[in-house]
Amino acid sequence: MKTVDITYVAIGSLWLVVGMLLGIGMGAAHNFTLAPLHAHINLIGFVSHAIFGMAYRHWPALKDSALAPYQFWIFVIATPVTLIGLYFTVTGGPELPTIVGSIAVLIGAVLFAVMIWTERQRA
Ligand code: HEM
Repeated sequence: MKTVDITYVAIGSLWLVVGMLLGIGMGAAHNFTLAPLHAHINLIGFVSHAIFGMAYRHWPALKDSALAPYQFWIFVIATPVTLIGLYFTVTGGPELPTIVGSIAVLIGAVLFAVMIWTERQRA
């Protein structure tokens, strides 16, 4: 987990590009059906990944937590599942991927909360 900090920010940067491209595409097409997807790509994909990465950088002891690999992989894999699911949901398709993905994203967030509160106890 040595490079988890910059890896998180690097993954987030890719989601930012995807989110901005979708935003520009929506504006160009004057079609805002995918606005919720755009918002979640930017907020779960970019903002959350980037903040997690910066937290790992700021409190390096988080990298040594036994929960860190689970927190990273669950959140990173659950993000595209949720976002692809949101695309289906917004366009009238199946909701199951969104449900599964969003529960997994939540688990990633809960693990992060446990880790940062544990670190706070130590500080
Ligand atoms: C190139 C950059 C971006 C472009 C061109 C863009 C474009 C848009 C457009 C066209 C909408 C729909 C507005 C409407 O429904 O009337 C929108 C909504 C939104 N955008 Fe962006 N956006 C950009 C970057 C971002 C970023 C970086 C974030 C967050 C970090 C963000 C968060 C949101 C949110 C929260 C909404 C509201 C979604 C909703 O109403 O469901 N956007 N954006």
